[in-house]
Amino acid sequence: MIRYNIPDLIQCLNTEVEDALIDRMPSLTVVGSQWGDEGKGKIVDYLAEDAQFVVRFQGGNNAGHSVKIGEELFKLHHLPSGILRRGKFSVIGNGVVIDPGVLIQELDGLESRGVSTKNLRISERAHVIMPYHKLLDGTEERLKRGSRVGTTGRGIGPAYSDKASRIGVRMCDLVEEEVLSEKLAFLIPHKQRLLEFYDDSTRLDENKILREYSEYGKRLRAHVTDTGALIGSALAKNKNVLFEGAQGTMLDIDHGTYPYVTSSLTVAANAASGSGVPPSAIGDVYGVMKAYTTRVGEGPFPTELCDDIGSKIAEKGGEFGTTTGRSRRCGWLDLVVTKYSHSLNGFTGIAMTKIDVLGGFDKIKICTHYRLDGKKVTRFPTDLRVLQRCEPVYKTLRGWEEIEGKRLENILAKGFRALPGTMKEYIRFVEKEMSVPVSVLGLGRRRNELLDFRKKKWKAK
Ligand code: GDP
Ligand code: IMO
Ligand code: MG
Repeated sequence: MIRYNIPDLIQCLNTEVEDALIDRMPSLTVVGSQWGDEGKGKIVDYLAEDAQFVVRFQGGNNAGHSVKIGEELFKLHHLPSGILRRGKFSVIGNGVVIDPGVLIQELDGLESRGVSTKNLRISERAHVIMPYHKLLDGTEERLKRGSRVGTTGRGIGPAYSDKASRIGVRMCDLVEEEVLSEKLAFLIPHKQRLLEFYDDSTRLDENKILREYSEYGKRLRAHVTDTGALIGSALAKNKNVLFEGAQGTMLDIDHGTYPYVTSSLTVAANAASGSGVPPSAIGDVYGVMKAYTTRVGEGPFPTELCDDIGSKIAEKGGEFGTTTGRSRRCGWLDLVVTKYSHSLNGFTGIAMTKIDVLGGFDKIKICTHYRLDGKKVTRFPTDLRVLQRCEPVYKTLRGWEEIEGKRLENILAKGFRALPGTMKEYIRFVEKEMSVPVSVLGLGRRRNELLDFRKKKWKAK
């Protein structure tokens, strides 16, 4: 319990402590504002420069975060994007589900490229994705036929289901062979029966799974700890903590386009619960917003463009999934979606990405609201049958030329004033509609290809 000593607090006034409290930028939480793949990896990698801790708080290896540094491309699935910056602590929080084999591969892959992973800390409370979760993910999808979600097939849903059913395996179990063995003695026959019920003939070999997973446990043991306590003490020491969301708000299990969602809470509020820190630790919230919209997998997408414009955006933006390689569906920016997202996350800044991809179009559209039975709809509908009947209504803005080569260099050197006038109009329109400033603007894939308009910044420590 924190005990406040009133005389001490009064003494703090006009002292360094008070200055520090006023000047200090709070922690920063970065989440996707749409259906994922907004460019969170690139933005977090950039913002991590002045952070000491970068924390993933939900999701699993369904995430695919691409970060391009110079000519080198890194694809991260489990690891926070801060891992690419030397000397930072990377934390996988309790809200994440972990496929230990995949995580080890990712760690080995980075080490072989000269990236140190020794500062990785993994929550002992995080749940483990087991082999039967991956099998069940596929089987359940096949059984759904027409109503399949189009999952990444990584076992995410079944792992979170077991967590909620209180039969999950946690990292603290994985690293204790005896505990793991006891858990598997119950779980394997249980999951075998489930597979048989689904007409899946795969045989689960309990001994083999125990051997394989206890090896993973041994390998990861040194990284496993009480990460909530670690982040809590970092916050108490005024360290800069960056919380990195995976997926996007419209894929949130409670608030997204259910059932076409992932199985975790992707909104900023979960940065606290999924990391084991209080809500007051969340700090500023940046919504990563692609200048257009994409979606992978099934589910409604009101502004989807199933025409040449959609294909051109997909081609120019390289819209293929980082995790599964599937083509991403593309469409215009949808402000009904992003405003709904803001109402859930409380954005204090927008990190707008991929605005360069829209270069070369004569006209660019932005959906400002939907129309249903002649009435204006501004709040994203809950019932997908209602959403299906909504027509997007667009505002058309003038486009701008391609931004590349010397032109891009000039913009990166001179900043906002060097942007094409029509691009500035696009940005101003979005800011006004959202009532949130664009704090960071992505103009290309590489780390340095962005403009930073933030007024408040972390002090490098
Ligand atoms: P995430 O899952 O939100 O991290 O996004 P992904 O990495 O799955 O997909 C975003 C893609 O866009 C990646 O290939 C990034 O390298 C790329 N990207 C990110 N920001 C920008 C940008 O501002 N411009 C361009 N052209 N590409 C970007
Ligand atoms: P990042 O972090 C885009 C989608 C899947 C599917 C649905 C459920 O890279 O933005 P799941 O495997 O989670 O049960 O699949 O969610 N999905 C994503 N789409 N980006 C992601 O992550 C996604 N993670 C899951 O395509 O529609
Ligand atoms: Mg992605």
